[in-house]
Amino acid sequence: MKKHLYILFLLSAFLPAYGQSRQNIEQKIEAVLSKMTVREKVGQLNQLDGRGIHGTIEQLKELVRRGEVGSLMNITDPKIVNQLQEAACKESHTKIPLIFTRDVVHGFKTMLPIPLGQAATFDPDLVKEGARITAVEATEHGIRWSFAPMIDISRDARWGRIAESFGEDTYLTGQMAVAVVKGFQGEDLANPQSMAACLKHFVGYGAAEGGRDYNSTYIPERQLRQVYLPPFKQGIEAGAASIMVSFNDNNGIPSTGNKYLLRNILRKEWGFDGVTLSDWGSVTEMIRHGFAEDRKQAAEIAMNAGLDVEMSSKSYIQNLEKLIAEGKVQETALDDAVRNILRLKYRLGLFERPYTDIHKPKETYSAKHLAVAKKLAEESVVLLKNENKTLPLSANIKSILITGPLADAPHDQLGTWTMDGEPGKTQTPAKAIANLYGNKVKVHVVPGLTYSRDKNQSTFDEVLRMARSVDAIVAFVGEEAILTGEAHSLAALNLQGAQSELIKQLSATGKPLVTVVLAGRPLTIGKEVEQSDAVLYAWHPGTMGGPAIADILFGKAIPAGKLPVTFPKEVGQIPIYYNHTNTGRPARGNEKSLDEIPLNAQQSVLGHSSYYLDIGSKPLYPFGYGLSYTSFEYADLKIANTRLKKNDTLSVSVVIKNTGQYTGTEIAQLYITDQVGSVTRPVKELKGFERVALNAGEIKTVHFNLPVSELAFWNSVMEKTVEPGKFKVMVGTNSENGSEATFEVL
Ligand code: BGC
Repeated sequence: MKKHLYILFLLSAFLPAYGQSRQNIEQKIEAVLSKMTVREKVGQLNQLDGRGIHGTIEQLKELVRRGEVGSLMNITDPKIVNQLQEAACKESHTKIPLIFTRDVVHGFKTMLPIPLGQAATFDPDLVKEGARITAVEATEHGIRWSFAPMIDISRDARWGRIAESFGEDTYLTGQMAVAVVKGFQGEDLANPQSMAACLKHFVGYGAAEGGRDYNSTYIPERQLRQVYLPPFKQGIEAGAASIMVSFNDNNGIPSTGNKYLLRNILRKEWGFDGVTLSDWGSVTEMIRHGFAEDRKQAAEIAMNAGLDVEMSSKSYIQNLEKLIAEGKVQETALDDAVRNILRLKYRLGLFERPYTDIHKPKETYSAKHLAVAKKLAEESVVLLKNENKTLPLSANIKSILITGPLADAPHDQLGTWTMDGEPGKTQTPAKAIANLYGNKVKVHVVPGLTYSRDKNQSTFDEVLRMARSVDAIVAFVGEEAILTGEAHSLAALNLQGAQSELIKQLSATGKPLVTVVLAGRPLTIGKEVEQSDAVLYAWHPGTMGGPAIADILFGKAIPAGKLPVTFPKEVGQIPIYYNHTNTGRPARGNEKSLDEIPLNAQQSVLGHSSYYLDIGSKPLYPFGYGLSYTSFEYADLKIANTRLKKNDTLSVSVVIKNTGQYTGTEIAQLYITDQVGSVTRPVKELKGFERVALNAGEIKTVHFNLPVSELAFWNSVMEKTVEPGKFKVMVGTNSENGSEATFEVL
């Protein structure tokens, strides 16, 4: 016994500053639970909005006093947060603190690039830093639970929410999920500057049919486990405190009522002991899905499926007591759900420190935070084209024209899910270029179009007159923030309004034309790329997008971003993603184009391969693509041991040389192909990447160590295993180009 206590003492001595031992927390939970009425228990599962939708602050206080609400969304005035907290901690029977929640998705006030842009950095350390400063800003406003990271695998650019995602790849998304969880939650969730993460949306939401938001998905179990679930599992292993279910029904079962997902996979297989949360109204939306008859049955289905907290739709608070009395829901199920939310409150240290310190000096918009936001924006920019070394703008360029609707659009460059970011604090490219480089070049700003959908060409003459008089043109086109995000799907992905016409006419002036695209998704910009000398894809880059882009244009920063998603040539190619399976008749690559098809030809004359007659089989840009101002050469790929056992580690090295004139960073990507399997395997899969910084002329050997266990997949009998056989490894600059070698797993 004494020894036992001593070990406990030792363990607690090593706990983080605010932490409490797990055992302690469990005991406290039981003590609190034993004093709660059924109604108070249900109250803990009720999450309401604080913006007036569910009553005034005074009315909410009353609900809090009665113990009928457990968490509150969207209140960001720390004084009001504290008042409500006081009602909970001092005036309610249970004295259980509230949690204040919000969608803090890519920045709180200091807005970072949209997550899709952050994914393009391939820099989880920096993404983690971004999440950390975000938590610092949000928590000083009272928010301790964010509904992020969104880790839906997104292979469809029509879907507006692709902006919120980390793109199409399971591995990259997993890395980013872990980075955000660690950044938000810090070393210790109980630190008042830490914020609980919420992995969402569980699961498959990004596969909505046709890219139409909220739509049904049909993801078979193997694909679910292989492609969609791993980032969630990794996020949980990194300590994610909560999970939000998705709106979609997969194969007929809405996630909110999916027992198999919530109980079997999440709890039993993965041992998750955090909170599961509905999406906004998703419990009662099961009625419109045709999966529940009424609100009462919706509550019954969700609770029995294992959904802990109900966001906004109040069917639990209205029905759970009755359902328990009728024996349709067991009180033990309710107790388990309450334990989960209490556990989160203990982990957040809210019982000890429920209030937000309003006297502490604020770090929001600090120089440090702005610097992190700028670095992220800089690293997120992808150079798609750079003919004749148009970029960086040379010292010979004495005057430039800044044009296009996104050049000075402080609201739009913040992107979707900008609840607290302020356009007044945004530094736009037009302003930043003038401020930072106005002493080197004469900067003329003529927008031409006032917003991305603008069709009014009445100022084009003025733009073109100016274009002809300057040494170079930088055109900022793309899409407004409102065209991206939730419920904002698009069927066409070309530039909106008269933007294409603007690019065409600018190109016709013959002046060097740099096109910078600010957008929330891949756009089908093949034509505009052809008409431009250089193209930068800058996503919606956030508060510091302006200085970041300015520095890239003038060569103070060298672009290194890589595409986290395949860019289609045409919408008709979607879904298009690099890690597809091969089919029995893959594209050969030399198929005839539409113009080459002979007249009156026999049906079989074109051969039988998988491609589009009009645009072939290739995307506009492959996953992982991105250039630099300098150039890199890969050579000498070596595998230390080409015959490996299942518990070995594959050790690969490659030599990378900076063959250009600038110091730059290359993101070297490692892909694996499992050549034969008991089920068909993807043509390649990303399994690692390294950011490699190289001075001009410098050579480095880059090493990758990949445990063979990472090659496991869900085989023909749904076991996750590594199958012996031949594999290919490729290390390269994008998913289509690299050096290859083979190895064998015995
Ligand atoms: C979205 C969630 C979000 C929630 C709360 C829903 O419409 O799907 O991602 O967290 O609203 O704002």
